[in-house]
Amino acid sequence: MPTPADEATRRRTFAIISHPDAGKTTLTEKFLLYGGALSSEAGAVKARSGRRSATSDWMALEQQRGISITSTVLQFPYRDCVVNLLDTPGHRDFSEDTYRVLAAADAAVMVLDAAKGIEPQTLKLFDVCRQRELPLLTFVNKWDRPGRDPLELLDEIEQQIGLVVTPVTWPVGIAGDFRGVIDRRDGLFTRFTRVARGATEAPEEIVEPARAAAAVGVGWPAAVDEITLLAQVGADLDAELFVGAQSTPAFFGSALTNFGVRKLLDAVVDLVPPPSPRDDAEGTPRDLDAPFSGFVFKVQANMDPSHRDRIAFLRVCSGRFERGMVITHGPTGKPFATKYAHQVFGSERETLEEAYPGDVVGLVNATEVRVGDTLWIDQPVEYPGIPSFAPEHFSVARVRDTGKFKQFRKGISQLDEEGVVQVLRDVDQGDSAPVLAAVGPMQFDVAVYRLENEFGAPVELSPTSYRIARRTDRTSADTLQGMRGVRILSRSDGTLMALFESQYWLERLESDHPELVLERLVAEGSAG
Ligand code: G4P
Repeated sequence: MPTPADEATRRRTFAIISHPDAGKTTLTEKFLLYGGALSSEAGAVKARSGRRSATSDWMALEQQRGISITSTVLQFPYRDCVVNLLDTPGHRDFSEDTYRVLAAADAAVMVLDAAKGIEPQTLKLFDVCRQRELPLLTFVNKWDRPGRDPLELLDEIEQQIGLVVTPVTWPVGIAGDFRGVIDRRDGLFTRFTRVARGATEAPEEIVEPARAAAAVGVGWPAAVDEITLLAQVGADLDAELFVGAQSTPAFFGSALTNFGVRKLLDAVVDLVPPPSPRDDAEGTPRDLDAPFSGFVFKVQANMDPSHRDRIAFLRVCSGRFERGMVITHGPTGKPFATKYAHQVFGSERETLEEAYPGDVVGLVNATEVRVGDTLWIDQPVEYPGIPSFAPEHFSVARVRDTGKFKQFRKGISQLDEEGVVQVLRDVDQGDSAPVLAAVGPMQFDVAVYRLENEFGAPVELSPTSYRIARRTDRTSADTLQGMRGVRILSRSDGTLMALFESQYWLERLESDHPELVLERLVAEGSAG
């Protein structure tokens, strides 16, 4: 029987990140098409359209805003590998959720719109990848439409994200007339043919360079010139630099017409590193063959109103997970029965029987399990927690109808646990007017919507003038308490936070009172 380490070598666990509308959803679907997960009729298209037409609370908000709030974990076989694609929510502004999902990925694919290049959201997401030293593949999408000059685009990526870009494929054909790509690794030209609505795989044909010139026409000499230039610069694929998050291999294509999708998926399998022993909180790597362990990177309640439950998404780090196993919840030491372990595919669930390092398990009704918690069997381990982001938006929440206070309190604590927003409390004011803190204002919309629709507690949000949060300690908090322009609040994990209205004010305080403890939170300034 293969060991967990053997199984891990077949796993590729990654996420797709992009600015909204760059084509993440389309590319995800095309990955499933090439992974054979759509031909069976049971795949994501069904899951997705089902999700879109469903009448649940979630879906209503999704439809209203045309966004996807629920993240999905998709697993499909490709070649001799098992691909785990972690879907990040497509919020227009940054959400902490994405950060957590990236904590569970071994690599990311950054999708860019060929006509737009690097957009604000891509830049923020990229910063997160850099912090996590996550290897990054780049897919320049929508090449079927008139776009920018490819060399100029590469230049922009290098300039803006500071990674060496190593184009693996190169587009052939003039703008808007995309014929195929040259694979710079072997110099061969792959010609693509369009199929109606991109519903099936695009036929591909390898064409010898000599014949390609005649077949492509005017676009060919330009592509050859560009390839020659790239060879002179030496922008060649370097697998080691990719894994070390120092260079990003780039691919050109069109998710809509399926052009270049297979090459990208092949690269995921060939280049993305399989799960490796993960460091525990002390920095000791946990052997892949050690007994089962994993950490929770996402908790979501009421995804499906017909279930009304709470799912904790766990990434397996070591060992073999078998449904029915009784595992230990690290922080409380309590046993947790895994009779209801699911693989969640879109809004559909399948019972999951076993999982290996790199796989994601959905634990149902894991009421006490929080984001960042470790679960294990036999051999205790604790993985480093997932740090929360520095919020930059703060609003006070009050229940509109005081008769609904109980529901309000329950909802607020649920949203806090899930990390939909961070909940900050003033010790003097208790639970009646908590401050909701968010990285992006969209988190507020989700919170307000859910409080009303899921918990029956309509709320009123009043914005505050605070913009910056710092972690502080009791002594400093006592000093800061009476100062102008500062507010001290506490998080449910006990952390004391000092809120400031402006950077200027904070800097002045820091220079006037160097004794004060004012620590930055993770990813300060890179999100929001
Ligand atoms: P997102 O998840 O990153 O937000 O993007 P999504 O895949 O939803 O794509 C956004 C829009 O871009 C969609 O058009 C989609 O069809 C289109 N698109 C994606 N990939 C390509 C591509 O390679 N070429 C071209 N030309 N278009 C592409 P839409 O009109 O907003 O939606 P729809 O009605 O087509 O679904």
